[in-house]
Amino acid sequence: MNAYLDIVPIESPIPADRQGSKRHYGVHPYFTRRPYNVVRQYILHYSRAGDRVLDPFGGSGVTAIEACLENRVGIQNDINPLANFIAQGIADLRLGNLSDYKEALSFLKDSCENQLGQLHSLDEAGLENLLGTLRLPANVSLPRNADVERYYDLFSPRQLAALSILKEAIARISAPPAGKGMLLAWSATLAKLNKTFLSAEGRAESRGGSSIFSIYRYKVAKEPIELPPWQTFHERALNVIAAKKEIDRAIELQRQTQGWRGEFQTCANDVEELSAEWNEQMDYIFTDPPYGGHISYLDLSILWNVWLNQLPEVKVRERELIVGGEMKLSEEQYIKRLGSSVRACIKMLKKGRWLSLVFQHWNVGYFDAILSTAAESGASLSAAVSQIGDPIWSMHKKKSRQSVLAGEMILTFCKTGAPRQVGKNEEFDVSDSIGRILSSTTADKIYGEYLFNKIVIEAWNRCAIGSLNISKNEFMDLIRQHGWCYDEEQHLWIKDKPTGAPLFNGLIPVGTNSEESASEPSQDSKIIAP
Ligand SMILES: C[S@@+](CC[C@H](N)C(=O)[O-])C[C@H]1O[C@@H](n2cnc3c(N)ncnc32)[C@H](O)[C@@H]1O
Repeated sequence: MNAYLDIVPIESPIPADRQGSKRHYGVHPYFTRRPYNVVRQYILHYSRAGDRVLDPFGGSGVTAIEACLENRVGIQNDINPLANFIAQGIADLRLGNLSDYKEALSFLKDSCENQLGQLHSLDEAGLENLLGTLRLPANVSLPRNADVERYYDLFSPRQLAALSILKEAIARISAPPAGKGMLLAWSATLAKLNKTFLSAEGRAESRGGSSIFSIYRYKVAKEPIELPPWQTFHERALNVIAAKKEIDRAIELQRQTQGWRGEFQTCANDVEELSAEWNEQMDYIFTDPPYGGHISYLDLSILWNVWLNQLPEVKVRERELIVGGEMKLSEEQYIKRLGSSVRACIKMLKKGRWLSLVFQHWNVGYFDAILSTAAESGASLSAAVSQIGDPIWSMHKKKSRQSVLAGEMILTFCKTGAPRQVGKNEEFDVSDSIGRILSSTTADKIYGEYLFNKIVIEAWNRCAIGSLNISKNEFMDLIRQHGWCYDEEQHLWIKDKPTGAPLFNGLIPVGTNSEESASEPSQDSKIIAP
């Protein structure tokens, strides 16, 4: 009897807690980070202690780190060296003593604080002389859509010098885990000490972020802000130390209750290549593949990968699962490879185990690739849950709310091992379906993405996903025809006239969590255009 098959799938959305954990929030920015509490609940629900839990598109490592802290073997995989650097860096905070980290920080203070403080009194010639004595990264060219041409154009001479001085001092730290922790803090500092840093309107100068994480390109600030290097690093190092304390506490709690046996591993493969190595080895997979265009992870990570000396080769960049970017990867190829990636995930799962995949897009073809390949690879769709409050809106979304989806769907599959061909071309009256869902709801407000998710899954269940050939605009017209109107401010549909502030009572979920201001870029949002 396979006890995993008795698991009742999670059918309800889990409210996202984005800032509740120091290990994921504030240590290092990354793109589209998943809310750790949601990931954690899925891991606890679909796997057992000692199990292997994989995230093949692991990003900053939320899945594998949470799995490790829950006594599983967390396996992080990503094609982007920066992603693995962050994930491994956070996971390694479980190693070494807290006192080593504190000592490492005070060693850095003694070695660098004064020197960094004096940089502002150096004139141009003095800075140039100093730069000549420092170890600097290669001055590579940047993607075509960057505001500037070359790597060094992203920095003022002072910023280049400060980053180099700090990095060299970190290399001299004798306790390896503490040294790695400080390098993680240095890498987070790099996100702030460059000209893509945009300060947040109406807040302290330092409360902003890089355009890399908000508009997904190297936009250089009109009036770049030079944050004080030592203080900026010091804050990041304290965040790392706070994350270490939190991880130590979580492990101690495990020790005192069920014993501690969590493990963490990193792989750096394309998902399809990974499956050759891990055939039928995984107990649970939770993952969040790229949603097509907009975020070219490898292009945008050049800022870090150059300085960390880990720039991927062209053949790796060609394997990135995105549309566009510097490699001009095609949408046709993306759809094909999205399907192959799902096949690879199912291949890696043991029979009777579960795969949860987070996805959202207005393009039904992308969902078709996921759902059809899963069925053909011997996995059946068990739950499709539209999440709440996830992700945070980005600046792009604020400018063009109708063209973006704010919510994501977690699709959970069980590997039955019995491949199935599912019909796709049955008739499907989308207007009728929208009308039925709208008239059966007791809520007077509804998010478009919730409705869209429901329609996609209904079409799939009725073997009609191939007939659901609808653009975003047509979809929106149909909602209007059913007597609902779009409220631009709240990014949702309202039964009659728009009224008042957003209500969560009686609101069909898949929400937004609009905490950031237009000038405070989010590191957590995805932009999805039709
Ligand atoms: C949506 S992000 C994952 C974010 C992650 N869930 C987190 O919480 O940080 C998708 C990731 O897929 C990675 N990726 C893109 N193409 C890939 C491929 N062919 N194989 C493995 N990883 C890939 C990107 O580098 C990116 O980190």
